[in-house]
Amino acid sequence: MKKLLSVCLSALLAVTALAGCAAPSGSDMVKIGVVQYMDHPSLDTIRDSFKAKLTELGYQDGVNCSVEYKSAGGDATTQNSIVQTFAGDQKDVIVAIATPTAQAAASVSDKIPVVFSAVSDPVGAGLVQSLEKPEGNITGTSDEIQVEKILTLALEYNPNLKKLGFIYNTSEANSITNLNKAKAFCEDNGIELIESAVTNTNEVQQAAQVLASKVEAIFAPNDNTVASAMPVLANAAIQAKIPVYCGADSMVNDGGFATIGINYESLGQETAVMVDQILKGTKPADIPVKVFKTDLQTIVNEETAKAIGIEVKE
Ligand code: TRP
Repeated sequence: MKKLLSVCLSALLAVTALAGCAAPSGSDMVKIGVVQYMDHPSLDTIRDSFKAKLTELGYQDGVNCSVEYKSAGGDATTQNSIVQTFAGDQKDVIVAIATPTAQAAASVSDKIPVVFSAVSDPVGAGLVQSLEKPEGNITGTSDEIQVEKILTLALEYNPNLKKLGFIYNTSEANSITNLNKAKAFCEDNGIELIESAVTNTNEVQQAAQVLASKVEAIFAPNDNTVASAMPVLANAAIQAKIPVYCGADSMVNDGGFATIGINYESLGQETAVMVDQILKGTKPADIPVKVFKTDLQTIVNEETAKAIGIEVKE
């Protein structure tokens, strides 16, 4: 009898430990809503690693919590309605992947805690006033890209670089921050920066062709709209035999020339850790924004290098 009791007890303990969120099943289960701006490889990586980490932390969708994943397909109206639906469902926490959705989710953060993921400039996007002390009911992870390092790499490959193209969506706050950084770098280094603005994915092809005919290299920051059409941009650049320096590893995989960037899997995992902390009672205001800007990797696409006739350096 005693033995049986202790077996039962340890089984119970094991289950509670696994549950993590310690939520009973049924209507009392914790509810997590995840909204992603659009589908492109980098955001998908973030979502998948977030999902895996959540499971590792003991959250089992349908067993002790319910997790709803939605993509807005890059559409502002859709993302607002997803956020409103999440608010109506009284989610316990909303996770917003990428800047535009984070800005939409912030509008309901007075009611529901928000954890944003991969927002390049949370202060510039108006989400928090300070990274160390977010203050509101919102915090998250940031992928502040290292524009100077990436453009220094461009100068190493072409010390005579005089005309650099910059392609981006004017409505992405993340890209405006990087545009300003690129402008400063170009000014300091005697490079003319030629901007090409798009408003949606369909415009990338033509914008890329025109831009590629005017410049010696292109910088594509981690702009969601451009990233989702990266194969098209890469193709135009390869035709013009010029390199595209990118803001993220996925863009190099999609045919860009090179980047110096972070690991987005770790960023997705950290987002899940923050969600766990909040569900266990920590206030978002007490969780500093985590900026991923170290452990950088230089990635070069050798196929692209070959296609445009650049010899890859060590
Ligand atoms: N940092 C982007 C934002 O703030 C989101 C993002 C993450 C991204 N990884 C990317 C955009 C890769 C383009 C490519 O919205």
